[in-house]
Amino acid sequence: MLEPSQKGAIGLFDSGFGGLTILKEVVKLLPQYDYIYLGDNARAPYGTRSFETVYHYTAQAVEALFKMGSPLVILACNTASAKALRTIQQNDLLILDPTRRVLGVIRPTVELLPMISKNGHVGIFATKGTVASSSYPLEIAKLHGEKNFKVSQVACPMWVPMVENNELSGEGASFFVRKYIDELFTQDPEIDTIILGCTHYPLLEPLIKRYLPDGVNLISQGNIVAHSLKEYLQRHVDIENRLTIGGQITYLTTEQSDYFEKIAEIFMGSSLSANHFDFVE
Ligand code: DGL
Repeated sequence: MLEPSQKGAIGLFDSGFGGLTILKEVVKLLPQYDYIYLGDNARAPYGTRSFETVYHYTAQAVEALFKMGSPLVILACNTASAKALRTIQQNDLLILDPTRRVLGVIRPTVELLPMISKNGHVGIFATKGTVASSSYPLEIAKLHGEKNFKVSQVACPMWVPMVENNELSGEGASFFVRKYIDELFTQDPEIDTIILGCTHYPLLEPLIKRYLPDGVNLISQGNIVAHSLKEYLQRHVDIENRLTIGGQITYLTTEQSDYFEKIAEIFMGSSLSANHFDFVE
């Protein structure tokens, strides 16, 4: 058990830079709170790792953010949300501190689908791990009924390395963007809505849009998660009361901080300063 927390910042966790696409929108909507962003860049990508490994890494990160005082942690990573969220909510929280909360990014995204898709043909771009977990098709069936949506998924293992290495345009990037789009529409040519089910992918949005058929909706999660967090805090005043106010953002990375800063600035659109963080095994 941890010491009961007093007040703390909202924690956001991702395997690397992807969660910054969530942080950016959350801070825009809720600038008053303090935030700690933890990117496990040294062990990214998570998308190709086993269930056990993703769970182990994610549980470590949640515990670390709790120890820094966060009463609320957002897994700003679909792979971690798909593979670790439920176990953390059902088992780890009871052991660590049942008064704190851990939220994911998949459910808020799925909730919005009926408002966006007209014909119910939905495509998911995600990591291998998220696709293999079937979290999106299962959550969509659970929330909206099995017969109302036809869901097709494509794993895009090249996109996270491209983003982590700032390869966002050019011939190589275009090739791998077209490749996965073609695979998706081969599965279902009628798709009218695509979820970018990995928080790294919004950085590739301009390129993806260039090759998408006209009229297809592309859903990025930042704005959705920000609004869902706002509503969550309105409903859970007990958690909201435990958040520190000050508008301060602390960036932590398991990689070298100067490397993180250079690429994170592209995500956030302004310069920032980060600190190196090591997990204690
Ligand atoms: N950004 C993550 C996600 O949303 C994971 C990317 C990775 O590390 O493979 O799935």
